[in-house]
Amino acid sequence: MTNAQSILEFQSNVSLKGRNTFGIAANAKRFAEVTDESALQRWANEHGKNERPFILGGGSNLLLTADIAEPVLHIAPLGIRVVEQDAASALVEAMAGEPWHAFVLWTLERGLCGLENLSLIPGYVGAGPVQNIGAYGVEIKERCERVVAVDLRTGELKTFSRGECAFGYRDSIFKHLERDRYAITRVYFRLSKTFSARVTYGDIQSELAANKVASPTARDVSNAVIAIRSRKLPDPAVIGNAGSFFQNPVVSVVKADELSAKHPTMARYPAPDGVKLAAGWLIEHAGWKGRTINGAGVHEKHALVLVNHGGATGASLWQLAQMIQVDVLAKFGVQLEAEPRVV
Ligand code: FAD
Ligand code: EPU
Repeated sequence: MTNAQSILEFQSNVSLKGRNTFGIAANAKRFAEVTDESALQRWANEHGKNERPFILGGGSNLLLTADIAEPVLHIAPLGIRVVEQDAASALVEAMAGEPWHAFVLWTLERGLCGLENLSLIPGYVGAGPVQNIGAYGVEIKERCERVVAVDLRTGELKTFSRGECAFGYRDSIFKHLERDRYAITRVYFRLSKTFSARVTYGDIQSELAANKVASPTARDVSNAVIAIRSRKLPDPAVIGNAGSFFQNPVVSVVKADELSAKHPTMARYPAPDGVKLAAGWLIEHAGWKGRTINGAGVHEKHALVLVNHGGATGASLWQLAQMIQVDVLAKFGVQLEAEPRVV
């Protein structure tokens, strides 16, 4: 082994079963834990021309249908600090390997507001910008000021402004255009010292009302989100899943009206470029809720969540997902797109 190779320590044939929340058995031919940004830069500088790594966080938005032949880099540098602050706000730097939910709690403990609606999303900070994580009326793009990443082809450290990240609904340049090129190592958040509640999402309002909270704090909103999520979504530690398996489709107003005329109870929400439909509603009304095929299932409480009942393989889950796509297209004329990365 040369010096350059030893900058990162690679292990061979590493099981990824405990590193993806579906709990799928698959191996990485080579695997390295990256805890040091500058070591990653040196490795990329030496190897970036020849190697095309696969970037792994907590594997909570991933479906593995095969082993991974590329070198897998688990991006795991740690650290959270306030970089600058004034009376109104603070700029917080979080390293990519910090667990997301623990980071949200860290900000709330310090009276920093803005991430409370994003409580309890699994995974690590570094993956947050990749699909512009969102929940309960807030997306990370609203709080993320910039992103720092290592260019895995050259080893250079690059800063992306919010605009350069090209955030969209469950999207950014890191998810598609530049996937596996930039390893995000740090994310900077602008957080407010005064709380302004974002409780337009119906579920939060009813949860707060049930708890008789009239003037919520950021903590109250976080607790409400935690309670709702814990009721609705299966815990990956108990039953393998990757959250929503499909994105909510956006269709034209004409198409949405046509569907609403046939299905007056269909869930629909205004979107900037049309109407957003609830994929969970479409899947449930196509008759898939609670069904299981070869260990791969549609969760009985939430039709948008595919689950591993124990014996599923990546292939059986992907087969189920494709059957659902074909059926929803046939029944409603709507194409569903997978949200997780499928390998
Ligand atoms: P991984 O699954 O490991 O990776 C996801 C993608 O990001 C891959 O393409 C990977 O290559 C890339 N990536 C990971 N780390 C980096 C990095 N440092 N640099 C560059 N690329 C990287 N998502 C939501 O948006 N909203 C939700 O409400 C939500 N709820 C969920 C609930 C459950 C129960 C589960 C299991 C998942 C949920 N998710 C949700 C999906 C998932 O948790 C998020 O997308 C999360 O950000 C993925 O983080 P991860 O570290 O597990 O990334
Ligand atoms: N619905 C059904 N049947 C179901 C499930 C849902 O009819 O089995 C309908 C209901 O009408 C419900 C509507 O779908 O009102 C929306 O459901 P929910 O509020 O649970 O939200 P979602 O659209 O399924 C989205 C995100 C989640 C996020 C929540 C809360 C996507 C793809 N999913 O889910 O994100 O946590 O809103 O904001 O946008 C994820 O991305 O992995 C994820 C979990």
